[in-house]
Amino acid sequence: SPRLLPGFVFCTMWTYWVLVPLCVVKVRAQFPRECVTPEILRSAQCCPSVFGQVNNPCGVNTGRGQCVPVRVDLRPHGPQYPHDGRDDRERWPFKFFNRTCQCNSNFSGYNCGRCRHGFTGLNCDQPVPVVRRNVMTLSPAEKRAFVNALDRAKRATHPDVVIATRRYEEVFGPDGNSTQFQNITVYNYFVWAHYYSVSKTFLGGGQPSFGGVDFSHEGPGFLTWHRYHLLQLERDMQDMLQDPGFALPYWDFAIGGNQCDICTDDLMGARSSFDDGAISSNSIFSRWQVICESVDDYDTLGTICNSTENGPIRRNPAGNVARPMVQKLPEPQDIKACLEVQDFDTPPFYSTSSESFRNTIEGYSVPEGIYDPIVRSLHNLAHLFLNGTGGTTHLSPNDPIFVLLHTFTDAVFDEWLRRHPGKSAVYPLENAPIGHNRHHNMVPFWPPVSNAEMFATAPENLGYSYEAEWPARPITLTEIITIAVVAALIVVAIIFTVTTCIVRTSSNKTEGRQPLLGEQYQCYDDQDSRHNDKTQSVV
Ligand SMILES: *[C@@H]1O[C@H](CO)[C@@H](O)[C@H](O)[C@H]1NC(C)=O
Ligand SMILES: *[C@@H]1O[C@H](CO)[C@@H](O)[C@H](O)[C@H]1NC(C)=O
Ligand SMILES: *[C@@H]1O[C@H](CO)[C@@H](O)[C@H](O)[C@H]1NC(C)=O
Ligand SMILES: *[C@@H]1O[C@H](CO)[C@@H](O)[C@H](O)[C@H]1NC(C)=O
Ligand SMILES: *[C@@H]1O[C@H](CO)[C@@H](O)[C@H](O)[C@H]1NC(C)=O
Ligand SMILES: *[C@@H]1O[C@H](CO)[C@@H](O)[C@H](O)[C@H]1NC(C)=O
Repeated sequence: SPRLLPGFVFCTMWTYWVLVPLCVVKVRAQFPRECVTPEILRSAQCCPSVFGQVNNPCGVNTGRGQCVPVRVDLRPHGPQYPHDGRDDRERWPFKFFNRTCQCNSNFSGYNCGRCRHGFTGLNCDQPVPVVRRNVMTLSPAEKRAFVNALDRAKRATHPDVVIATRRYEEVFGPDGNSTQFQNITVYNYFVWAHYYSVSKTFLGGGQPSFGGVDFSHEGPGFLTWHRYHLLQLERDMQDMLQDPGFALPYWDFAIGGNQCDICTDDLMGARSSFDDGAISSNSIFSRWQVICESVDDYDTLGTICNSTENGPIRRNPAGNVARPMVQKLPEPQDIKACLEVQDFDTPPFYSTSSESFRNTIEGYSVPEGIYDPIVRSLHNLAHLFLNGTGGTTHLSPNDPIFVLLHTFTDAVFDEWLRRHPGKSAVYPLENAPIGHNRHHNMVPFWPPVSNAEMFATAPENLGYSYEAEWPARPITLTEIITIAVVAALIVVAIIFTVTTCIVRTSSNKTEGRQPLLGEQYQCYDDQDSRHNDKTQSVV
């Protein structure tokens, strides 16, 4: 409309003058490298142009997306976190940015320059299947390709993302003009993001940091957060391999026993013959170095894990002799049991929730759903079984078994969503631990993505699927009630018919014909065998 035009021209010119100077400068955050210059960070607007273009924020000129205000959920969070105002991760990502790209149709990414998961082509209109398979069923060549892809991801610099190594307060550097970000490799970014989400709240020098906070565990967001975490690694690896169909496999860890079946040199690495807690030197993973180990530094100095690598992965499957409970993997029937838990999550939406599917698969309840403070089951048990890097929350993704353990957890989540399409699949709107409300953006992902966006069946909504077999779906309560009601009606009908027959037989003897009942109901004795058989088969 003509009245809107001047406004539009003004906005376009404003965008031009503000963005052109900024877009030419290329510096480096777990934010896009383009968005961490002092100027852009101060503007709080991260809406870069599509690769190789100038003045086309979010691909707006080509219809790919637009720069919009970030939406942040302000509903109350649970009581576990009492330090509001002290942590950069609150109201994520407001501390850093309040404008972001929002992509149209099948476009996605921080600048709308890539396709949604499961699509490819210049216009992102060609579907590609992304099928996650059981890692044990891969051919030798497929296993090799997967291990090599992980190793390449461990070494390749992330093309888009840089990590913050200081809290916002110190992120502009000592001179206020040298932002504190580092390059990081594709795989180490995956490790860093997990660390950042679980790290403690720094309360100032000389004070102990606050550990009762976790943006990715012990709350309803556990499943949605790890789902996006994997999606991001899978996407980064697709880009790295230039293969939009690349899919992360999964490890069915519910096999019972004390053997790690994927701990072989053609997969995640056998045990070293020289050191029970190390990986065999025949595996490439024996040469991987971990990041984020210096927690004492981070918690006393208020710094953040950076990309410095130090020391090998430690792993000793079934090796925790001090805790017999974690020397055995979960059993197949544990999966069957947890899939039957009806409610997605239950108050207080925490690691103490009972009858909560989320708390059960996470592993703080018995597999049937009852909370028990001493139990470690399913996901938690599989981690603890590894007795090493993979069993320590802030470090666990350093062991690549993390990827396979979590794709399986995600596969169970997806199967649960498929089996519980109705009222029980409700994600709590508020009063969940901080970061875990339905519309909280998940920390530290960029562009912002909420828990709600990951709370939907994957094949229909998220562009990937699992090739998996699940224990037979049990009969639901509704079905049991329906069957019981039908059976009861049949029994009543039979009793009624038999009674009628007896009454009619006796009245025939005494009074002859009984008009009301005689024509309508037959005695079983009178029925032919075909009718009899049919009645029996229904009951
Ligand atoms: C966004 O951030 C900028 C810079 O910090 C600030 O001036 C502006 O008020 C913020 N806008 C909103 C809606 O928070
Ligand atoms: C997105 O992909 C779907 C599925 O192929 C397709 O039907 C749709 O047209 C695509 N959207 C656009 C705008 O290209
Ligand atoms: C920051 O650096 C830029 C470019 O090097 C310079 O123009 C500007 O004056 C500096 N600002 C401050 C506050 O030091
Ligand atoms: C970070 O990576 C980018 C892209 O690979 C590169 O251009 C830049 O020089 C790197 N910066 C540092 C400090 O290594
Ligand atoms: C990276 O972390 C280590 C361990 O805390 C620290 O010694 C080092 O100074 C950090 N490097 C940067 C650039 O912050
Ligand atoms: C591994 O097991 C030993 C006991 O054998 C235990 O002391 C240690 O804490 C465990 N480490 C991890 C990371 O689980």
